[in-house]
Amino acid sequence: MQISPTGQTLGARVEGIDLQHPLSKTDIRTILRALGEHGVLCFPRQTLDVDAFADFGKCFGGLEINVANMFHEPNHPEVMILSNIQKDGKPIGLGDAGQGWHTDMSYSEPIALTTILHAQLVPQRNGQPVGNTEFRNMHAAYEDLPPDIKAKIEGRTATHDFNKFWEMMRARPGNTRPPLTEAQRKRKPPVSHPIAYTHPITGKKVLYCTIGYVTHIDGMDPNESAELLDFLYKHQDGEKYLYAHRWTQGDVLMWDNIGTTHNAIPDYGDIPRYMRRVQVLADLDYPAMVA
Ligand code: SIN
Repeated sequence: MQISPTGQTLGARVEGIDLQHPLSKTDIRTILRALGEHGVLCFPRQTLDVDAFADFGKCFGGLEINVANMFHEPNHPEVMILSNIQKDGKPIGLGDAGQGWHTDMSYSEPIALTTILHAQLVPQRNGQPVGNTEFRNMHAAYEDLPPDIKAKIEGRTATHDFNKFWEMMRARPGNTRPPLTEAQRKRKPPVSHPIAYTHPITGKKVLYCTIGYVTHIDGMDPNESAELLDFLYKHQDGEKYLYAHRWTQGDVLMWDNIGTTHNAIPDYGDIPRYMRRVQVLADLDYPAMVA
C-alpha cells in the first residue's frame, strides 16, 4: 500500500491495494493508523462488488442496519443506497443523505468509527465533478480551543438525537422523508457522549459535538448550554479545518467519524449520483489493533 497525504488538513490517497480481496491483519492495522492520522482515505479505481464492499467494512467493526433503512442493495440491508435516481417514478436511494454538518451515528451507542462510500456514479457539470463531500478536522478543532473552553467541556457530555437531523431535513422545501415512527424513535433514543472525546485510534481528544445531532449539554443551564454550543459550532466551522473530497467514479472513501465532521453538497440537481454506503460501529479494540 502507498499512502499519499493530500497536504491539506485531512485526506490521503491509498493505492496498491485491491479491496475485492480479503485484507490481512497488517493491512487492517495500516489502514486504521492512516485513518487516525489523515481522517479521510480515498482508495481510487476500486471495482469491488457488494459482498466485498460489506466484507471490507466488517474488517473495522460491525455494520449498522440504519434505523430508517428505506433503500439498500438486494440481500444487503447493511449496504445503503444513496442516490437521486428514480425508476418508474420511485426513488431507488436516499436522495438527501448527509446534507448538513454532522458525524454519522453520534446519536447511537456504540457510535460509528467510520463510514465508507463506494462511488458508482459521480455527477459532472462542464466536465467537473459536483456533489463533493466536505469534512472538518475535529482533532485540530479541539487542539485550538481556548484553555477556558477546554476546561468548561472537560468531563461534560452532550445529548445527541437522531430525530434532530431527520426533522431538519423534513423541514426543507420539497423534502419527502416521512416522520420517524414511534418504533424507530424507540430503537434510537437520544444518547449522551463526552464532548471532549478520546479517539480510540490516536488516543488524543477530539471535539465531538456537531450541530446535526446535538440538542444540549447535559446538566447545564439551558441558556448556558445554548451559548457554549453556539461557540463550539462557530469554532469548528473554521476554514482551516475544511477539506473537500472531489469524487471520481470507483473511489472508495473511508472517513473517521469520530475525528471529523462532514457535509454532502447537494449542487447536482437531477444529474445522477449513486453511492453505496456502510456505517461501521466502533465496537472493536482499536488500541490493540493499531499497536
Ligand atoms: C453521508 O453523510 O453519509 C453521505 C455523504 C455523501 O453522500 O456525500
